Amino acid sequence: MKAKDLAAVADEVRVMIQSDADIVLARQQARGLAKELGFSASNLVVIATALSELARNIVQYAQCGEILLSRIEHGNRRGFVIIARDQGPGIADIERAMQDGYSTGGGLGLGLPGTKRLMDEFEITSGVGQGTTVRATKWMR
Ligand SMILES: Nc1ncnc2c1ncn2[C@@H]1O[C@H](COP(=O)(O)OP(=O)(O)OP(=O)(O)O)[C@@H](O)[C@H]1O
Ligand SMILES: [Mg+2]
Repeated sequence: MKAKDLAAVADEVRVMIQSDADIVLARQQARGLAKELGFSASNLVVIATALSELARNIVQYAQCGEILLSRIEHGNRRGFVIIARDQGPGIADIERAMQDGYSTGGGLGLGLPGTKRLMDEFEITSGVGQGTTVRATKWMR
Protein backbone atom coordinates (compact mmCIF):
# COMPACT_ATOMS: atom_id res chain seq x y z
CA MET A 1 0.00 0.00 0.00
CA LYS A 2 1.36 3.41 -0.94
CA ALA A 3 1.46 6.44 1.34
CA LYS A 4 -1.29 8.25 -0.56
CA ASP A 5 -3.57 5.25 -0.13
CA LEU A 6 -2.92 5.32 3.60
CA ALA A 7 -4.00 8.95 3.68
CA ALA A 8 -7.20 7.98 1.92
CA VAL A 9 -7.87 5.21 4.40
CA ALA A 10 -7.51 7.61 7.34
CA ASP A 11 -10.50 9.57 6.06
CA GLU A 12 -12.57 6.54 5.32
CA VAL A 13 -16.22 6.38 6.29
CA ARG A 14 -17.84 2.97 6.53
CA VAL A 15 -21.57 2.39 6.23
CA MET A 16 -23.15 -1.01 6.79
CA ILE A 17 -25.76 -1.79 4.16
CA GLN A 18 -28.64 -4.13 4.80
CA SER A 19 -31.82 -2.15 4.28
CA ASP A 20 -33.33 0.62 2.20
CA ALA A 21 -32.83 2.96 5.16
CA ASP A 22 -29.10 2.19 5.07
CA ILE A 23 -29.03 3.06 1.37
CA VAL A 24 -30.57 6.46 2.12
CA LEU A 25 -28.05 7.04 4.91
CA ALA A 26 -25.07 6.02 2.78
CA ARG A 27 -26.29 8.24 -0.03
CA GLN A 28 -26.53 11.22 2.33
CA GLN A 29 -23.07 10.51 3.75
CA ALA A 30 -21.53 10.27 0.29
CA ARG A 31 -23.19 13.45 -0.84
CA GLY A 32 -22.07 15.33 2.29
CA LEU A 33 -18.46 14.17 2.03
CA ALA A 34 -18.24 14.88 -1.68
CA LYS A 35 -19.71 18.32 -1.11
CA GLU A 36 -17.07 19.05 1.54
CA LEU A 37 -14.41 18.07 -0.97
CA GLY A 38 -15.80 20.66 -3.37
CA PHE A 39 -17.53 18.59 -6.04
CA SER A 40 -19.93 20.42 -8.34
CA ALA A 41 -23.69 20.00 -7.95
CA SER A 42 -23.88 17.80 -11.03
CA ASN A 43 -21.07 15.57 -9.76
CA LEU A 44 -22.85 15.29 -6.41
CA VAL A 45 -25.81 13.86 -8.31
CA VAL A 46 -23.50 11.47 -10.16
CA ILE A 47 -21.89 10.27 -6.92
CA ALA A 48 -25.22 9.87 -5.13
CA THR A 49 -26.65 7.93 -8.09
CA ALA A 50 -23.65 5.60 -8.30
CA LEU A 51 -23.79 5.04 -4.56
CA SER A 52 -27.48 4.19 -4.71
CA GLU A 53 -27.04 1.65 -7.50
CA LEU A 54 -24.16 -0.15 -5.76
CA ALA A 55 -25.96 -0.16 -2.41
CA ARG A 56 -29.20 -1.37 -4.03
CA ASN A 57 -27.32 -4.28 -5.55
CA ILE A 58 -25.95 -5.22 -2.13
CA VAL A 59 -29.42 -5.29 -0.56
CA GLN A 60 -31.01 -7.04 -3.52
CA TYR A 61 -28.41 -9.70 -4.30
CA ALA A 62 -26.27 -10.11 -1.19
CA GLN A 63 -28.70 -8.97 1.54
CA CYS A 64 -25.91 -7.24 3.42
CA GLY A 65 -22.54 -5.67 2.88
CA GLU A 66 -20.74 -2.40 3.38
CA ILE A 67 -19.83 0.79 1.62
CA LEU A 68 -16.56 2.56 2.21
CA LEU A 69 -16.26 6.21 1.27
CA SER A 70 -12.92 7.95 1.00
CA ARG A 71 -11.08 10.77 -0.63
CA ILE A 72 -8.09 10.21 -2.81
CA GLU A 73 -5.34 12.57 -3.93
CA HIS A 74 -3.13 12.18 -6.93
CA GLY A 75 -0.76 15.08 -7.40
CA ASN A 76 -3.08 18.06 -7.22
CA ARG A 77 -6.08 16.06 -8.36
CA ARG A 78 -8.66 15.17 -5.77
CA GLY A 79 -11.16 12.42 -6.07
CA PHE A 80 -13.82 10.52 -4.25
CA VAL A 81 -13.83 6.75 -3.98
CA ILE A 82 -16.79 4.49 -3.35
CA ILE A 83 -16.06 0.89 -2.46
CA ALA A 84 -19.08 -1.40 -2.22
CA ARG A 85 -18.42 -4.90 -0.99
CA ASP A 86 -20.34 -7.92 0.14
CA GLN A 87 -19.88 -11.60 0.77
CA GLY A 88 -23.01 -12.56 -1.11
CA PRO A 89 -23.37 -15.10 -3.92
CA GLY A 90 -21.03 -13.25 -6.30
CA ILE A 91 -21.40 -12.89 -10.07
CA ALA A 92 -20.64 -15.85 -12.33
CA ASP A 93 -20.24 -13.87 -15.56
CA ILE A 94 -19.04 -10.33 -14.91
CA GLU A 95 -18.88 -9.43 -18.60
CA ARG A 96 -22.56 -10.24 -18.96
CA ALA A 97 -23.49 -8.44 -15.77
CA MET A 98 -21.78 -5.32 -17.17
CA GLN A 99 -24.00 -5.32 -20.28
CA ASP A 100 -26.96 -2.97 -20.50
CA GLY A 101 -30.17 -4.83 -19.89
CA TYR A 102 -28.80 -7.94 -18.20
CA SER A 103 -30.61 -8.62 -14.93
CA THR A 104 -31.20 -11.71 -12.84
CA GLY A 105 -33.45 -9.73 -10.53
CA GLY A 106 -36.11 -8.46 -12.90
CA GLY A 107 -34.51 -5.02 -12.99
CA LEU A 108 -33.52 -2.86 -15.93
CA GLY A 109 -29.98 -4.21 -15.77
CA LEU A 110 -28.52 -0.71 -15.89
CA GLY A 111 -27.09 -0.35 -12.39
CA LEU A 112 -23.56 -1.61 -13.01
CA PRO A 113 -23.04 -0.38 -16.60
CA GLY A 114 -24.66 2.95 -15.71
CA THR A 115 -22.38 3.38 -12.72
CA LYS A 116 -19.35 2.61 -14.87
CA ARG A 117 -20.39 5.30 -17.35
CA LEU A 118 -21.08 7.87 -14.63
CA MET A 119 -17.83 7.43 -12.75
CA ASP A 120 -14.27 8.02 -14.04
CA GLU A 121 -12.85 4.70 -12.88
CA PHE A 122 -14.66 1.47 -12.22
CA GLU A 123 -13.37 -1.93 -11.14
CA ILE A 124 -15.41 -4.95 -10.23
CA THR A 125 -14.15 -8.13 -8.62
CA SER A 126 -16.56 -10.96 -8.11
CA GLY A 127 -16.86 -14.69 -8.26
CA VAL A 128 -19.34 -17.33 -7.26
CA GLY A 129 -18.98 -17.89 -3.54
CA GLN A 130 -16.48 -15.04 -3.26
CA GLY A 131 -18.76 -12.06 -2.91
CA THR A 132 -18.53 -8.87 -4.90
CA THR A 133 -16.40 -5.75 -4.60
CA VAL A 134 -16.86 -2.66 -6.73
CA ARG A 135 -14.49 0.29 -6.58
CA ALA A 136 -15.60 3.45 -8.35
CA THR A 137 -13.78 6.79 -8.42
CA LYS A 138 -14.83 10.27 -9.45
CA TRP A 139 -12.12 12.87 -10.02
CA MET A 140 -12.81 16.50 -9.42
CA ARG A 141 -11.07 17.68 -12.58
N1 LIG B 1 -23.58 -7.32 -5.31
C1 LIG B 1 -23.99 -8.26 -6.18
N2 LIG B 1 -23.98 -9.57 -5.83
C2 LIG B 1 -24.38 -10.52 -6.71
N3 LIG B 1 -24.82 -10.27 -7.96
C3 LIG B 1 -24.87 -8.98 -8.35
C4 LIG B 1 -24.46 -7.91 -7.50
N4 LIG B 1 -24.60 -6.75 -8.17
C5 LIG B 1 -25.06 -7.07 -9.38
N5 LIG B 1 -25.24 -8.41 -9.50
C6 LIG B 1 -25.67 -9.15 -10.72
O1 LIG B 1 -25.43 -8.34 -11.84
C7 LIG B 1 -26.65 -8.09 -12.54
C8 LIG B 1 -26.63 -6.69 -13.13
O2 LIG B 1 -26.66 -5.72 -12.09
P1 LIG B 1 -27.25 -4.28 -12.41
O3 LIG B 1 -27.19 -3.46 -11.17
O4 LIG B 1 -26.55 -3.76 -13.62
O5 LIG B 1 -28.75 -4.57 -12.83
P2 LIG B 1 -30.00 -4.97 -11.93
O6 LIG B 1 -29.66 -4.78 -10.47
O7 LIG B 1 -30.40 -6.34 -12.32
O8 LIG B 1 -31.10 -3.94 -12.39
P3 LIG B 1 -31.13 -2.36 -12.06
O9 LIG B 1 -29.90 -2.03 -11.27
O10 LIG B 1 -31.14 -1.67 -13.39
O11 LIG B 1 -32.37 -2.17 -11.27
C9 LIG B 1 -27.75 -8.33 -11.51
O12 LIG B 1 -28.98 -8.68 -12.10
C10 LIG B 1 -27.15 -9.49 -10.70
O13 LIG B 1 -27.31 -10.71 -11.38
MG1 LIG C 1 -28.79 -2.99 -9.81
